[in-house]
Amino acid sequence: MIIVIITPTIPNIGTQREKHQMYVCLCKGITDGQIREAVDQGCDSLRDLRRELGVASQCGKCARQARGVIREARTESSAPVYAAATSAQPVMFIPQPA
Ligand code: FES
Repeated sequence: MIIVIITPTIPNIGTQREKHQMYVCLCKGITDGQIREAVDQGCDSLRDLRRELGVASQCGKCARQARGVIREARTESSAPVYAAATSAQPVMFIPQPA
């Protein structure tokens, strides 16, 4: 007897960052994706973002939102990322006689 098991495809949750393209700072034209990237590269505070990207350096209305994006980015970077399986792979299982 031969049993063939098809392994399911794991959804790719590692590309969530690509979904984030919302303007946070209109004065400087900075998106949340750019902020997340800056956090990945070591920016850890609004002060860092202001220095690196100019976020909240003019009217300052984006400061609260920018802090929220920093917080989210930190959480996401500490969450596990699963690699996507490109396709289902059959696994052959041949039970051995007892
Ligand atoms: S919206 Fe960011 S400084 Fe004005």
